[in-house]
Amino acid sequence: MTEKNYTLQNASGQSVELPVKSGSAGPDVVDIRSVYGDQGIFTFDPGFASTASCESKITYIDGAKGVLMYRGYPVEQLADKSSFVEVCYLLLYGELPSGDQLAEFEHSIIMHTMINETILRLFNGFHYDAHPMAMVAGVVASMSAFYHDTTDIQNERHRDIFAHRIIAKLPTIAAAAYKHSVGQPFMYPRNDLGYAANLLHMLFAVPAEDYEVNEVAAEAIDLLFLLHADHEQNCSTSTVRLAGSSGANPYSAVAAGISALWGPAHGGANEAVLRMLTQIGSVDQIDKYVDKAKDRDDPFRLMGFGHRVYKNFDPRATIIRGACHKVLDQLGRVDTPLFDLALRLEEIALKDEYFIEKKLYPNVDFYSGIIYRALGLPTSMFTVMFAIARTVGWVAHWTEMITDPEHRIGRPRQLYTGPDKRDYTDISKR
Ligand code: ACO
Repeated sequence: MTEKNYTLQNASGQSVELPVKSGSAGPDVVDIRSVYGDQGIFTFDPGFASTASCESKITYIDGAKGVLMYRGYPVEQLADKSSFVEVCYLLLYGELPSGDQLAEFEHSIIMHTMINETILRLFNGFHYDAHPMAMVAGVVASMSAFYHDTTDIQNERHRDIFAHRIIAKLPTIAAAAYKHSVGQPFMYPRNDLGYAANLLHMLFAVPAEDYEVNEVAAEAIDLLFLLHADHEQNCSTSTVRLAGSSGANPYSAVAAGISALWGPAHGGANEAVLRMLTQIGSVDQIDKYVDKAKDRDDPFRLMGFGHRVYKNFDPRATIIRGACHKVLDQLGRVDTPLFDLALRLEEIALKDEYFIEKKLYPNVDFYSGIIYRALGLPTSMFTVMFAIARTVGWVAHWTEMITDPEHRIGRPRQLYTGPDKRDYTDISKR
């Protein structure tokens, strides 16, 4: 890392030299850590649009060029040649695995897919119409009450078992939430199936008959998971880092990430896109909704459009758009009208001056919901699918933070604009 300087002038006209750090790619950062101690001022960046909160070696995004790389590998190459489980290994350990390493990793994940039976009984405490994200967040938070052998965050072996365990068990927990919501018996994982196929089995098999996993469906899930696996310091990942920075057990930190992911501005967008497309209903209604999205006085936004970082195109959306065609063709095109509506909406919005000027393009979630729906998943499960995929990213970032010798508890400051000191007034005088 090379060092340069950045000169700031403070209120008294004195020049202050701040070190500038350069990463291996991306903008330089001004190291402001000494600013409060030396100058007595804070920096102000609500939404963190200009703030690098940490140093990381995991994922790189160039929002202007539409570049996304995991550990240096372009996501397009990984989507074409790799698999979700191999990408999990890459994100966790920094390098692509050898054949033996991959086989060992896959075996370890398979051997951790079952959940403690008592965890299963937790689901009975939820009402049948509980949102699956609420159940998954609650159950993941409770995992620290079951797996005491993996909560010593300073122990490398504990951290590794935690990583394998949570990546392996998230699909089982997600499927249990789904089965609970539809009133069907839970289906135990099958060790002879791959990650995505096993998830499909746990979601859709019933004890009364044989279930054959559809290869196209398994491939589509594997691709969607690979594309969602990590996205550097996004809202949920930053939440996991912040919650974990206090030394909290990692299951709680991941549960915090799941909660952050749920919001419609983040992972909840895939669910919101489907609701929006259904609300728009037909191509002749698109103009009306595009106008609503442009109206500053109307809270309506085109869900699945816009991104804090991508200001040209979201490379994941480009890949998923292609996958959508394949899935709908091969699974009987049940959702063709919805997909056609999405394509037309994209076409109209991309030609609209408002969306061009604000650099608003379809993001990853504009299409992912259409695929999930074609696979037979209810809308309420879409964000849960995202959570399964992003778990590895959260774990990789949590591990990177815990093992960084410079890590400290995350503790931002504020610009206070509340009342200045005033004296307490007795209640009889108010
Ligand atoms: N529809 C209409 N207008 C929009 C949209 C949209 N989807 N997104 C942004 N804008 C407008 C804003 O109103 C704002 O306009 P202004 O400059 O006149 O005030 C401008 O574009 C900039 O938008 P911000 O909200 O300031 O951008 P920010 O980076 O804070 O938000 C976000 C990014 C949250 C993704 C936003 O674009 C959005 O809400 N999109 C819809 C939800 C969505 O798809 N989220 C998924 C993100 S991807 C992911 O998490 C996996």
